Amino acid sequence: MAVLVTGGAGYIGSHTAVALHESGRRVVLLDDLSNASSAAVDAVRGLTTPDLAFVEGDAADIDLVGRAMDEHGVDEVVHFAASKSVEESVREPLAYFRNNLGSVLGVLAAMEAREVRRLVFSSSCTVYGEPDDVPVTESSPTGAVNPYGWTKLHGEQLLRAVADAGGLDVMLLRYFNPIGAHPSGAIGEDPTGIPTNLVPILLQVASGRREWLQVFGGDYDTTDGSAVRDYLHVVDLAEAHVAALDALSAHPGATAVNLGTGRGHSVLEVVALAAEVVGHPIAHEVVGRRPGDAERIWADPSLAAEVLGWTAERDLRTMLEDHWRWCEAHPDGFVGARADLDP
Ligand code: UD1
Repeated sequence: MAVLVTGGAGYIGSHTAVALHESGRRVVLLDDLSNASSAAVDAVRGLTTPDLAFVEGDAADIDLVGRAMDEHGVDEVVHFAASKSVEESVREPLAYFRNNLGSVLGVLAAMEAREVRRLVFSSSCTVYGEPDDVPVTESSPTGAVNPYGWTKLHGEQLLRAVADAGGLDVMLLRYFNPIGAHPSGAIGEDPTGIPTNLVPILLQVASGRREWLQVFGGDYDTTDGSAVRDYLHVVDLAEAHVAALDALSAHPGATAVNLGTGRGHSVLEVVALAAEVVGHPIAHEVVGRRPGDAERIWADPSLAAEVLGWTAERDLRTMLEDHWRWCEAHPDGFVGARADLDP
């Protein structure tokens, strides 16, 4: 039998594919390559097996997903395929609802028709909106502050309803801030166009591709005034997906689980440690707050330890070292199949 990984050529999908392969599973990648490169598929094959299956197409296409499941004997699914830019989702909400919920519906329909009921869903700590209290637990209030966040929350609700009706066992994994890369440097984050997340921008400054980093906000109520996040190594995150599939038989129905380290780091701490890792200072300047940013957010990861038997192991230095190794090896990301990079 095999595991289908939708969005398997993406940042978290590719790392998870490697971890699933290492767990002894046969892996089938599905990706429409709208925000990923076929070179990522080749790199995953390089880290796993040259004959790892890849299906190019849209997870909302029920027939395509169904054919992939039949052809490869799929009996469990990890669903990542989704658009993930907050800013783009504000400009194009309909596209976000259609793509992110359409893919959930496509995967669910294909699963239901084949009586496949084991699913891991890629959710996000964005479902907590702007939390009042930290650490955030799975029972903290939910709510979204942008269309991207709503697509994740509605996706969770949809899956929960199907699970409550007895048709599905699903882990709703709420990621905090994934960074880092596979230690080989062969796969990593390859943002389309101009990145908006902290670490990709920071390391572009470190490599001279960008002049300086804007630190959004120096007047937060934190130790150094900059905002605090729970950064998580993408390989730890990938391993959590394997643990989540393994835990499904003991935890039927729908279970939401936070994936974070339980430790917060400020933006200025990340900048200082990154400078140590790259071996030179990284130009930055504190500017005004970014609208919509929370002051501080980190996970209570105790449910993940209890339900999945999983705890994040890699520290911030390792995350930055591994992310930097990937950047140095791939200054232009997965080159070749990319037509969308800025000159
Ligand atoms: C963002 C998304 C979130 C998504 C997550 C994926 C927003 C508002 N939220 O979270 O929905 O799930 O990415 O990883 O976009 N920062 C700077 N300068 C920069 C960029 C970022 O100071 O140039 C700061 C931010 O203000 C924040 C921290 O770095 O305090 C992390 O930012 P980012 O990597 O964008 O992640 P989030 O905003 O936490």
